[in-house]
Amino acid sequence: MSTEPGGPEAVPTSRAVRSGIRFDHVSVRYGDLTVLDALDLTVEPGEVLALLGPSGSGKTTALRAVAGFVRPSGGRVLIGGQDVTDLPPHRRGIGMVVQQYALFPHLRVDQNVAFGLKAQRSPRAGIPGRVAEALEMTGMAGYARRYPRELSGGQQQRVAIARALAIRPGVLLLDEPLSALDAQLRSGMLAELARLHRELPDVSILYVTHDQIEALTLADRIAVMDKARLQDCGTPQDLYRRPRTEFTASFVGSANLLPVRVAGEGALRFGDAVVRAAELPKGAVEGAEATMCVRPHALRLAAEGAAGGAANALRGTVTGVQWRGSTHRLLVDSGGHEIRADVGDLRQPPAVGATVTLAFDPEDTVLLPAGVGTERPLLERV
Ligand SMILES: Nc1ncnc2c1ncn2[C@@H]1O[C@H](COP(=O)(O)OP(=O)(O)OP(=O)(O)O)[C@@H](O)[C@H]1O
Ligand SMILES: [Mg+2]
Repeated sequence: MSTEPGGPEAVPTSRAVRSGIRFDHVSVRYGDLTVLDALDLTVEPGEVLALLGPSGSGKTTALRAVAGFVRPSGGRVLIGGQDVTDLPPHRRGIGMVVQQYALFPHLRVDQNVAFGLKAQRSPRAGIPGRVAEALEMTGMAGYARRYPRELSGGQQQRVAIARALAIRPGVLLLDEPLSALDAQLRSGMLAELARLHRELPDVSILYVTHDQIEALTLADRIAVMDKARLQDCGTPQDLYRRPRTEFTASFVGSANLLPVRVAGEGALRFGDAVVRAAELPKGAVEGAEATMCVRPHALRLAAEGAAGGAANALRGTVTGVQWRGSTHRLLVDSGGHEIRADVGDLRQPPAVGATVTLAFDPEDTVLLPAGVGTERPLLERV
């Protein structure tokens, strides 16, 4: 049945290390409800792929389909090129870490880490060495004889990761592994995970999160999910600089989404203002509608009424000023739209109620298909 690279082969034993994940048109239904809709997605060997999306979008369901805890109603899951759709979880060669650390409270750290090895009947003699190796990798070597209750939240999560790594999996599934930690611990653990990934160059990591910073920091590619469907997939830079939909634009980084109309000669109209994009799609006709995406940090304050050069300029009234340490976030009402601008080095931020001109370069804009309900969309919605 398998025509994948590497197959057809014998059914994998739990000791065979297989890397790379493929969702081949995978659907999951609960009763009438489709919670995963024909997902096609590949995680390459050695790649970290983040599944990013709002609550209920189907991220955990996708991960559980790889682990074997939910059975797809359609499609196939392949690990290392092998169809594993019918294999039980313990024969898939995966390590998994979930949001709640789920350590066994009555077992010591070393016993917790050994658990997966025992469950898959690893040779007994090799277990202590594997446990020590996994604890070493996660910086927990000094805690082997403690019980989970004697550890902090961050340390417990490291043990959970050590337990997943002990079986030397080809595929590591991480479901919001940092969400129970406070912000500072989270950023420390994020750096640890990046280091772990460098030490495990062949392991495929599927990382579920709804935190875009985690996704941007850790992932080689990000798959954006919404309403049971894959919306977009690309490198973090790609999705940030060249989003294809309003959803991706506003979910990966923050975005000003300005409704514009083609005004002729390559110009666009936003309310009363004329603005320019880097380029208009071919075939754009006058009057067609689109959404212009401009990131808050691409906006700057210009001298009143003058943007300078070829820059776009929007006039508006300051409705809010938030100091964020290295930048000020200005909220500006321009023609009834709230525009967010992150401006650095402002000795004297404008006062609420002041009239300002925000400037931005055409190169820093992306044109997207217009929102739902527009009369003459410029681009096909994807
Ligand atoms: N066992 C189940 N029976 C019925 N519906 C379920 C079951 N498990 C999940 N669902 C539904 O499937 C949808 C997707 O759930 P899933 O857990 O995959 O979301 P998620 O993207 O991981 O969300 P979150 O970010 O909140 O964890 C939700 O609407 C959820 O209510
Ligand atoms: Mg989830």
